[in-house]
Amino acid sequence: MKQLLFFSNNKNKIIEIEKIFRKFDLKLLSLNDVNLREEPKENGQTFEENAKIKSDFGFNKTGIPCFADDSGICIEALNWKPGVRSKRFLNGFKNNKTCFKNIIKSIKKKSKLNAYFKTSISLSIHNDQNIVFNGKIDGIISNEIKGGFGFGYDPIFIPKNYKRTLAELSTREKNEISHRSIAVTKLINFLSN
Ligand code: IMP
Repeated sequence: MKQLLFFSNNKNKIIEIEKIFRKFDLKLLSLNDVNLREEPKENGQTFEENAKIKSDFGFNKTGIPCFADDSGICIEALNWKPGVRSKRFLNGFKNNKTCFKNIIKSIKKKSKLNAYFKTSISLSIHNDQNIVFNGKIDGIISNEIKGGFGFGYDPIFIPKNYKRTLAELSTREKNEISHRSIAVTKLINFLSN
């Protein structure tokens, strides 16, 4: 069975991705499996650049084909930010609830509800050679914080054509529609061919 390293320390992402990979004949390794504790600086300006920085780092350190994702939320009422700064934006508040309340206030003030999540996955197989797969999910910001599943901004994001937030969907339901599963499925199709 072929090995593939997933460069991430985010437990929730690892769980989501492991579930998607279960159907395929590939051994998915985590950073723990290869004892890799260092991380590169994510100083790219786009999701694609940051994903590449991480997958190149993982491949160069281990020699194992490596993929990494970089993702975030883009909110119309915030001029389509925080984008690549999603993690830093959330961590800049006292807690997630305060951040969500601040976002909900902005969408109400501007009457702009649209938002999307984007994931870019970079796969590094050879030195200086990487391939990028993107996934996006459109939706709106909920006017209430709802749900206990998932992570990050899930409790305030309602996918298009849904009534519940991502945090009210099970991992299986989220995986059927999420930005990350769209990008991962493209990666898996590429690897299977
Ligand atoms: P990164 O790809 O780990 O840098 O993710 C950046 C941040 O975007 C995360 O810390 C989350 O706050 C947010 N994010 C990324 N993907 C998701 C998701 O599927 N649901 C909710 N928040 C997400």
